[in-house]
Amino acid sequence: MSEAVEVRKGLVGVYADDSSVSKVMPETNSLTYRGYAVQDLCELSNFEEVAYLLWHGELPNAAQLAAFQAEERANRALSPATLRVLREFPRNAHPMDMIRTAISFMGMEDPEVADVSDAAQRRKAMRILAKAPSAVAAANRLSKGLEPIAPDAALPFCENFFNMVFGSVPKPEVIKAFDVSMILYAEHTFNASTFAARVVTSTMADMHGAIVGGIAALKGPLHGGANEAVMHMLSEIPSPDVAEAWLRQRFDHKALVMGFGHRVYKSGDSRVPTMKKYAEIMAEVVGDRRWMNTSAVLARVMLAEKNIHPNLDFPAGPAYFLMGFDIPMFTPIFVCSRITGWAAHVLEQGADNRLIRPLSHYTGREQRSVVPMSAR
Ligand code: COA
Repeated sequence: MSEAVEVRKGLVGVYADDSSVSKVMPETNSLTYRGYAVQDLCELSNFEEVAYLLWHGELPNAAQLAAFQAEERANRALSPATLRVLREFPRNAHPMDMIRTAISFMGMEDPEVADVSDAAQRRKAMRILAKAPSAVAAANRLSKGLEPIAPDAALPFCENFFNMVFGSVPKPEVIKAFDVSMILYAEHTFNASTFAARVVTSTMADMHGAIVGGIAALKGPLHGGANEAVMHMLSEIPSPDVAEAWLRQRFDHKALVMGFGHRVYKSGDSRVPTMKKYAEIMAEVVGDRRWMNTSAVLARVMLAEKNIHPNLDFPAGPAYFLMGFDIPMFTPIFVCSRITGWAAHVLEQGADNRLIRPLSHYTGREQRSVVPMSAR
């Protein structure tokens, strides 16, 4: 007989550590980074300022931001070896597998890979933040038979990313919508990928390993992969007027509806109204309301029938599509943002570390004797 223990499957409701990086308040559908409401950060700051905030605990002043941006811009270039590795990837590989492998390779090249001191971890985090968009953009272009576009140190973070993907910088409204998505994706307490990164760090393994662990966890459709799954789902629905019938069929098959539900938020995801606002702006900029109109029907019926609200991936998926990104790029873009949150947690875990090692409740066979092969 196995002993009676309380197993919290999926670690539901378990507090695994203290953290001062961000706070989710499901009662009020709100989220703060270092004490600042994400909605306010979206309207009054930009992604680089938020990256600084997550890593330093305070918003930067002008001089601090300039130094941060200069360091980020100086580290964007991929080494010739990384570019060679990217060229060797199978053309049909998923970009999440490409960015996971590229960052793993960058770790092997990084002169400080094994130094897990706080100062070295911060320098490596900056190098990963700067290089990841270059690798995501280069992998995307190579998979389409196009040559990568080198980063441009004259351009800010978001503008540079668009330039590396498309060879041009879009209108300011598009940059703003993208920047907002990057802020909203940056951090979200002990989600699965962040916890994975903290588990890796708790063994005193290096920053690149922790980020690679985070990327592996983020790929799944129950986590970051949902933004791609949302767009695939919306593409299956021919028009908004058949969206309700399509959804009811889904209910009949008891299938998951991607972009809905959340482990922590049960009455609405704090990030959705802001992302929805900017997805609507994208629909206006592009002049295509199909995705937002279909989304509105799905959200209405899901709430009325299942009492389940959309999560951030629901408006982010169509927003990225309207910006012109290929669907398999959506989760790698999430990676480029969440590197900031993962790294903030790696630094926090490292500053007061204890190996993360829970217990398992054994339900297998009682102890027994090994019968020699000749007698089996
Ligand atoms: N579509 C249909 N039903 C859903 C649903 C969805 N997206 N999300 C939750 N539910 C249902 C569950 O089937 C369950 O029903 P039941 O009680 O009849 O079994 C109930 O709502 C509670 O959900 P549960 O699976 O316990 O929630 P969880 O906290 O374990 O899972 C998610 C949270 C995010 C994994 C889950 O909502 C999901 O798979 N969503 C779709 C993927 C997604 O958008 N992920 C991105 C998250 S930010």
